[in-house]
Amino acid sequence: MTKKIIYECIDAGSEYCPCYLAETNDCITCSHLQGKEFCDCNWRGVCIYQEYFWNGKKAKIARKNFIGKILDKKIIGDNLIIFEIEVAKSFARNLKQPGSYIFIRDADKPEYFDIPMSIMYSDENKGRIHVAVQIIGTKTKSLVNLEDEIMVRGPYWNGVLGLKELKTLKNSNALLIARGVALAPAVHILNYLIRNNNRITFIMDKGKFSEIFIGDYLDESKIITIEADILNQKGKLIVQELIRNNHYDLCFSGGSDPQHKEINNLLREFSLNTKYVITNNKEICCGEGICGSCTMRVGDKIIKACKSQINTSYIFEKEAE
Ligand code: FES
Repeated sequence: MTKKIIYECIDAGSEYCPCYLAETNDCITCSHLQGKEFCDCNWRGVCIYQEYFWNGKKAKIARKNFIGKILDKKIIGDNLIIFEIEVAKSFARNLKQPGSYIFIRDADKPEYFDIPMSIMYSDENKGRIHVAVQIIGTKTKSLVNLEDEIMVRGPYWNGVLGLKELKTLKNSNALLIARGVALAPAVHILNYLIRNNNRITFIMDKGKFSEIFIGDYLDESKIITIEADILNQKGKLIVQELIRNNHYDLCFSGGSDPQHKEINNLLREFSLNTKYVITNNKEICCGEGICGSCTMRVGDKIIKACKSQINTSYIFEKEAE
């Protein structure tokens, strides 16, 4: 018998729900808004079908682009820029949760220059957000000369898979492993876990950058930090020994898919009950569940990774088959 894959729409119950997907019978959560005659959802918030009805059988107003003022631009080495952007306080507050991201681009460029970018730090009191951009291709190169303004769209929240496991972790042990630009979303995750009184070991790998660029965002008195190149033998051994010799209730991997897989294999070998949280590496293009660029197969389902939260065990179970 095929196992029922449970996944939830990250936007369900938010001010952006129901979205365009409801208008085309493609809602991720509501069976009525998938064209079925019966109610068969696992959503426990306000009924999405009812919201759709009350909204005149239309999608709610979608996220909009706006111009953000660049307050600071820090260039690190030859391939990394940290932007500090002024936004509305409510917008910054909406980006406080782990996995938050926005789209940014040069305001003079067309929409297809939009780049999804993880929030590294968000200050709701001042209305400021920080993002770290790895300069790597045409889109990111177009941001290098921006000094005053940047186009912003958001908030989006599905930058991390396994959010439920992350958010429910309290008074526990966690291992965070992040490499390169994935150090940025790790800061948000770290702060969330610290707030919930978790004990954290954080392995930081600068990847292709000249330095660990998140030093200003860490309070190292509250965590154990280890700097390592997790792709070389020594670094791999450090990761392996930590997982083998300690019990972690949760492990976060920020980095490439091969990295996620390798760490998952170690966890399955040495630490079966560890919850696993990973960065969402799918190609996010629209972020709204429309374009289909982020689709992934999990079990017998095709899901849109920009909108769907899923327990990561489903992903690796499938790969192991
Ligand atoms: S990014 Fe367009 S559908 Fe997910």
